[in-house]
Amino acid sequence: MSVHKNAKRITTHTLQTMKEHGEKIAMLTAYDYSLAKIVDSSGVDVILVGDSASNVMAGHETTLPITLDQMIYHAASVVRAAEKALVVVDLPFGSYQGNSKNALDSAIRIMKESGGHAVKLEGGAEIKESIERILTAGIPVMGHLGLTPQSIYKFGTYQVRAKEEVEAQKLIEDARLLASVGCFALVLEKVPAALAKRVAEEIPIPVIGIGAGPDVDGQVLVLHDMVGISHEFKPRFLRQYMQLFDAMQEAIGQYVQDVRSKDFPNSKEQY
Ligand code: KIV
Repeated sequence: MSVHKNAKRITTHTLQTMKEHGEKIAMLTAYDYSLAKIVDSSGVDVILVGDSASNVMAGHETTLPITLDQMIYHAASVVRAAEKALVVVDLPFGSYQGNSKNALDSAIRIMKESGGHAVKLEGGAEIKESIERILTAGIPVMGHLGLTPQSIYKFGTYQVRAKEEVEAQKLIEDARLLASVGCFALVLEKVPAALAKRVAEEIPIPVIGIGAGPDVDGQVLVLHDMVGISHEFKPRFLRQYMQLFDAMQEAIGQYVQDVRSKDFPNSKEQY
């Protein structure tokens, strides 16, 4: 019997058991009630209310503009839909980097006002104090290393991270640190597969990859990318399971045609 199937609700403890049993963790983003309902009922373990909402929902170029209030709005909608999945909510840029009190206040607002189950923060040693303070309040924390989009203006590009030895070494140390302070899981974004494998083997908590190869404990994708709504974004790591942009465009085009030709509504589609 699989750990996922056995669980009534997915908790941080379930994810740890899945790692120990070698059962892969499936994580996807969602930002609204309707799509979160589909994601939750499809067997996904973790729904991430990612700050990628800034890109896919609001059309911003980066994740930086989204606010804490907006994240809480998205997260509350997702929480209302999720019956089984663990809901993890990103702390947005500017809501935790200032100091650990700022980080704790932001995490508490997310937990209280959205009903989310855990928070995710980007970074390693530089945010250790904030993570510890959030954990002290009993709030589970997921880490995020590698390509951390909130630091895009420092990196300058969205290219693969930690290809060089110095950066790879720093990532390994940060991963060890996040596990040792008590994070329940770690996202590794866009790093070489061999490095991700090494981290997943070395640290005891689940490592969830995006563009980090197959030898980690689970995978995460942005929902709108994997169903082809954001059809222009096609990085190498992405598998597109549908071309929803094209399918919806065709359906909507047909609707427009039916309205214009007076085919819609017909005699059965009225009172
Ligand atoms: O915001 C997000 O969607 C994320 C994932 C890409 C991991 O952080």
